[in-house]
Amino acid sequence: MSAPVEKRIGKFVSNLLKKKNPDEFLEQSAKGGLKKTLNAFDLIILGISAIIGAGIFVMIGSAVIGTTERVGAGPALVISIFLVAIACIFPALCYAEFASMIPVSGSAYIYTYATMGEFAAWMMGWVLMLEYAIGTIAVASSWSGYLIKFFEGFPFLPEIVKNPPVWLINDYQTAMSSGESIPHIFGIPICMNLPSMIIIMIISLVLLKGIKESANFAKIMVLVKIIVIALFICVGAFYVKPENWTPFCPMGIKGILMGAFAMFYAYIGFDAISTAAEETKNPQKNLPIGLIGSLVVCSLIYCFVTVVLTGMLPMSQIDLKAPIAHAMSFVGQDWFAGAIAIGALAGLTSVLLVLQFGTTRILLAMARDGLLPSVMKEIHPKFQTPWVITILSTILMLIGSLFINMQVAAELAIFGTFTSFVIVCIGILILRKTEPNRERPFKVPCCPWFPIIGIIFCSGLMIVALREVKTSAMLFPLWVVIGVVIYFLYGYQNNKKDVDIKIIKNEEKSKITKMS
Ligand code: ALA
Repeated sequence: MSAPVEKRIGKFVSNLLKKKNPDEFLEQSAKGGLKKTLNAFDLIILGISAIIGAGIFVMIGSAVIGTTERVGAGPALVISIFLVAIACIFPALCYAEFASMIPVSGSAYIYTYATMGEFAAWMMGWVLMLEYAIGTIAVASSWSGYLIKFFEGFPFLPEIVKNPPVWLINDYQTAMSSGESIPHIFGIPICMNLPSMIIIMIISLVLLKGIKESANFAKIMVLVKIIVIALFICVGAFYVKPENWTPFCPMGIKGILMGAFAMFYAYIGFDAISTAAEETKNPQKNLPIGLIGSLVVCSLIYCFVTVVLTGMLPMSQIDLKAPIAHAMSFVGQDWFAGAIAIGALAGLTSVLLVLQFGTTRILLAMARDGLLPSVMKEIHPKFQTPWVITILSTILMLIGSLFINMQVAAELAIFGTFTSFVIVCIGILILRKTEPNRERPFKVPCCPWFPIIGIIFCSGLMIVALREVKTSAMLFPLWVVIGVVIYFLYGYQNNKKDVDIKIIKNEEKSKITKMS
């Protein structure tokens, strides 16, 4: 009686833990025939293009002054940034080990499949959707804020463009709680963040047509945002009043930790470098340089911007929607505020490109592994892009943008990123045990301590934040549960057949051996 139950449990567990050998991925990628053209410098640029966006142009405001749900760090945000940089270094080293060992696109999803099996890989892919797809909603909403800031600089534009009604530039929750009148159709209130929806659709169209067309465009946008930030630091430094730095740490340690949590958003995306592993020359050397290099460069940029911003104006005057541009208006440099809006729009557009691209490629990898319906892996015959996934994910992101506000979307993306970092660190520990002899062109130094410190740092910050940010702390576990349900309703059912066939074959083999 107990044997079939044991057998069923055994089958169930082997389904969940079914792994893919890293060599399978390497073989697949060798067939893919992608050109190896990227060097370490290209990777650092890719990192900067993914990292510097809403984090610096928008989140920095709420990280300094706080929101209704979390306290701010005040000028001590510079310490928070230092903490986040340290917290990211350890997972970055783990990414570097994985990416140099399995240099294929697909990033953390693939690494998890190779080390922890199918269920963990699905959950990783699902959680990465928080980072990439929900992160897109946050960045698009910031883009919308800066677009309005940009229009404000043109007095001749109609009032509706410079100062649009609340229901046209906000999600439902924000618009309904604004107290302003909202139009209704058949009794249903109509609210949407129109600019944000439009930019999501434009980027999707670009991605549908092919990423190559946008690669040079993305490089120009990175250049524009770096120039604008450098100018902000240089010009803003002349307006710094040291008295604005006191009190330095108004909310104490809690403020610093919550500031670190919020600024984590700024670091989202550096893992995108590992998705370029397949196209990197000498990935063993260049990937670690690209990952660590972009982390260091961006951390320095964040520190300078924070010091200048918090020195330019009193904390109470910092703007939540467009803090950097507003700081320039505050000191009377309106023309410069306009230039910053252009830099921010360029910067946010390049982040959107990376995030939306990442969304489609991770979903494609999951569809190829049978974890999503096979129609989703359709490639467009003319443009050679995954058109079904691109359209579907765009529709879902547009719907999401109606209901999720920027802060909540950013916090969810942060939870997703924390989780993926923790899983990647665990993956390194597992693979060192299960495959100690596999060739590792780059090795995390001081293993197992560095991955363990990464796990402690990231999960520690996540646990502190879960107690503070009520809305996203409720939505995050809900997202995880939905992921588990979808896996058992679809991915598990669809993929268990392979394991069943393998088990039957093994049983037959052993019967034949016994008989002979
Ligand atoms: N790190 C990206 C940004 O700040 C997500 O926009």
